[in-house]
Amino acid sequence: MRPHVTVNAAMSVDGKIALPSRTGVRISHDEDLRRVHELRASCDAILVGVGTILMDDPKLTVKKEYAKGRNPLRVVLDSDGSCPENAAVLDGSAPTLIATNVNCTKTFPNADVIRCGDDQVDVPKLLEILHEQGVQRLLVEGGSTANWTFLSGGLVDELLVFTASMIIGGHSTPTLVAGEGIKRLEDAIRLRLQRASPVGDGILLEYTVVRE
Ligand SMILES: NC(=O)c1ccc[n+]([C@@H]2O[C@H](COP(=O)([O-])OP(=O)(O)OC[C@H]3O[C@@H](n4cnc5c(N)ncnc54)[C@H](OP(=O)(O)O)[C@@H]3O)[C@@H](O)[C@H]2O)c1
Repeated sequence: MRPHVTVNAAMSVDGKIALPSRTGVRISHDEDLRRVHELRASCDAILVGVGTILMDDPKLTVKKEYAKGRNPLRVVLDSDGSCPENAAVLDGSAPTLIATNVNCTKTFPNADVIRCGDDQVDVPKLLEILHEQGVQRLLVEGGSTANWTFLSGGLVDELLVFTASMIIGGHSTPTLVAGEGIKRLEDAIRLRLQRASPVGDGILLEYTVVRE
């Protein structure tokens, strides 16, 4: 058993989710922020990869000006424990869990550690553990590599993408999904568009993932 998994992201029309320097910027429109914070408040946990922590240092809490509700558990995929001790997710303002591989011996202030996976974090196993601990709804907030692990592993129920009316460009600018990618079109991860709604100057696309 695993939690219900939602991936949420904001991208440009050309699919970029950050600047070419990989620095995170707010691509989402102001009008979309309320939805994102209400979504956070409705979930039991929010997960990101450590790449996002290192580039953006997000706090991953519910901002009171946008939504009411408790802060979900913050979860970081961090095989070798490279999350800096002064990262915002370690500020003690919400419960935090660092998921490492079984060889990592690091500990972190204000966070628990789960060790699973020999090299990278074993995400299916982690989801099982989170579910056993009461996490029923998990929100994945990137970045590209974490999104690939979840989508390619068949671990996503819905994908919500705010598409801003802008182009960012750049050969190696992070895109919505990275990883190895598929080899044949038949292997594409198929989505079903459930809704497309204008929000601010962009569009919110809501998909479910098609199960074979
Ligand atoms: N616009 C948006 O919505 C949005 C949201 C979030 C992030 N971003 C952008 O995304 C970029 C970061 O993306 P990223 O791809 O570099 O990093 P990421 O997906 O945030 O983190 C990936 C890292 O997580 C660790 N990890 C451990 N186990 C993993 C597993 N099983 N699967 C995947 N990752 C695992 C790996 O590092 P170790 O090997 O060290 O463990 C891996 O390199 C930044 O530019 C950020 O600004 C944009």
